Amino acid sequence: MFLFQKIKEFQEKVLSFYEEEGRDLPWRKTSDPYAILLSEVMLQQTQVNRGIIYFQKWLEQWPTVFDLARADRADVLKAWMGLGYNMRALRLHTTMKIIASQFDGDILKALEEYKKLPGIGKYSAAAVKIFSTNCDAVTVDTNIRRIFIHEFSLSEDVSEKELWDLAWKCLPKGKSRDWHNALMDYGSLVLTSQKTKIKAKTRQSRFEGSDRQLRAKILRSVLEKKEVSFEEMYSFGKKDKVERVLNSLEKDQLLVLKDRMYILK
Ligand code: ADE
Repeated sequence: MFLFQKIKEFQEKVLSFYEEEGRDLPWRKTSDPYAILLSEVMLQQTQVNRGIIYFQKWLEQWPTVFDLARADRADVLKAWMGLGYNMRALRLHTTMKIIASQFDGDILKALEEYKKLPGIGKYSAAAVKIFSTNCDAVTVDTNIRRIFIHEFSLSEDVSEKELWDLAWKCLPKGKSRDWHNALMDYGSLVLTSQKTKIKAKTRQSRFEGSDRQLRAKILRSVLEKKEVSFEEMYSFGKKDKVERVLNSLEKDQLLVLKDRMYILK
């Protein structure tokens, strides 16, 4: 079959699936780039169902870029608790401060220089542009990569460039918003990694018993109590593990030790 025929059939299959079984998700009901950027950062390593609750609460607490830019760091970390990877919250906060102060709050303009924005990569920058403006653009996340590899029988070593080139060939012009939503649903609901046996390039590590879990526990306790003593920290786990995690929290400029008490920096 010619490639253009294959692409046409693929588009029809994915779009008709979306029409019938696409998910009704809150960030699909808005074209506000701030809300969409927020959803993309939250969904980077979080499941959609959990993301929905946080997304809605977050928008009530900080409805605009400027509200979030002015927010207190401790409040941002508290609101993120349970979503995991707390550095993502801090990067998002910094990104909003940059957008508010250097780009007059204009997210789409700022995304043209996404390398200045911590936590925002090529994928997220393109996704926000697509979902807020429906412009002809493409993005390739883990789900979309898996679909292309499966549908077009590509090697799992396929290069980024080849994937993005194929993404352009497959894009139905004028429909990028629906198309990318459809791909995400098709990847999450039909061509799952379990079904296709195609592994993601980066995998989330196990949480239970991990340093990441201890890190969350320690940070949570400092956020709740405002300060936690050196001695108390050792009640959280094995000495060397606690020390390793405290070092990483200090290195990431989250905690500092002051008068034998750990506080938020
Ligand atoms: N994962 C990342 N972005 C998403 C979106 N907009 N909808 C569903 N899952 C996603």
